[in-house]
Amino acid sequence: MNAKTVAVMVSGRGTNLKVILESVARGECPVDVKLVISDKGDAEALSIARNAGVPHVVYVDPENFAGREQFDAECAELLDRHGCQWIVLAGYMRILSSSFVSRFRGRIINIHPSLLPSFVGAKAVEDALEYGVKVSGCTVHLGDEVLDGGPILAQSVVPVLDGDTRDSLHARIQVEEHRLYPATLARMANEGFDIVGRRVVWKST
Ligand code: GRF
Repeated sequence: MNAKTVAVMVSGRGTNLKVILESVARGECPVDVKLVISDKGDAEALSIARNAGVPHVVYVDPENFAGREQFDAECAELLDRHGCQWIVLAGYMRILSSSFVSRFRGRIINIHPSLLPSFVGAKAVEDALEYGVKVSGCTVHLGDEVLDGGPILAQSVVPVLDGDTRDSLHARIQVEEHRLYPATLARMANEGFDIVGRRVVWKST
């Protein structure tokens, strides 16, 4: 079986990128990370990608483009040029344009630090804490036009503790993210899935 060719899009620390690359290197996740794109020149994720030997590591500066559509068109060109089948968003902080989403529909994967559909958006961890939920977690899902709204591939739950701060809760969620994201990509590559309505149905189940 040929490994799926993957691009990872990042904006920040890149800890999810790191665990995905480690899982690939251990032979546990049969994908080929060909390209990493960052919209931030100082993202730690860029050096993680370079140190791991990802063949194409690119900073695309949003300042060089008139708007979201033009920026996304440049990213789409890179993804096509390197033959990327899946686009894995790992802490990528830009909203995708609808033309980008429709061009790569069903091939965009995201991880979000809450149990969707609760707490969409950039402040998911703070919002969950403020709301007072007793459990939270993370969700791996397909990207579509709705913010954090595509079909759910996998979720994992963590407790919210009385003394939690944003950072302590996010750290607990990230432990689960680092397990769930590579495992879900591996499952996607190994099993595949169908979409029935909004539901992801794994082929082996
Ligand atoms: C993660 O918590 C992820 O759920 C969210 O952004 C964060 C990225 O973390 N989308 P990192 O850059 O992978 O460390």
